[in-house]
Amino acid sequence: MPERVDPPIAIDILQAEALVFSRYDNHIVRRLSDMKGQFHDQEAYQAMLEEEDRILYEVYDVKRPEQAGELIPGLSIVHPGKVGDEYYMTKGHFHTVIDTAELYYCLRGEGMIVMETPAGEFTAERLKPHTLVYIPPRWSHRSVNTSPTESLATFFVYPANAGHDYGSIERRGFRKLVVERDGGPQLVDNPRWLPPEKW
Ligand code: F6R
Ligand code: ZN
Repeated sequence: MPERVDPPIAIDILQAEALVFSRYDNHIVRRLSDMKGQFHDQEAYQAMLEEEDRILYEVYDVKRPEQAGELIPGLSIVHPGKVGDEYYMTKGHFHTVIDTAELYYCLRGEGMIVMETPAGEFTAERLKPHTLVYIPPRWSHRSVNTSPTESLATFFVYPANAGHDYGSIERRGFRKLVVERDGGPQLVDNPRWLPPEKW
């Protein structure tokens, strides 16, 4: 039997009002209501939610078999906005197969990727168009849009067998929050962060 060989896939990144893939299999839409407990100002969160369940971010990706050797390419669009003083952000996750890396390439907008290891080591990188961030294995990651007006668009690619562990971040949070101070983004300690010994 000849080995099965899939055809290559070519995708254009279309410059519509927001960037969009010319072809994709999944379009994931995350709203304010999907982010319960993630923003530090719970009162601001509740008040916003009662007004409107806004879309915070969207992801377009290509479906591939979830096996080692395969990659999943995708596009992440985080819209501009804040909950209280905290910028819109993705949920953030560890990869379930923790020894898998990921690559992010910023196409449009400005923001940050915050990253943290299971041992509580924290780092953040600024994103602007053409910034490439390589996230090595074991670093959880969240992207944050720090522009007051523009969506943050990033291209990402990661191993298709990585899987997503959202629960750890929901419980412990990231060590630092990205908030607006004096009209710009600043990292501040997360008062609700759980250090590794309290997991
Ligand atoms: C995949 C990955 C990105 C994110 C996307 C949305 O491993 O890191 O595709 O999935 O930026 O963020 P989450 O998944 O944290 O809601
Ligand atoms: Zn990831």
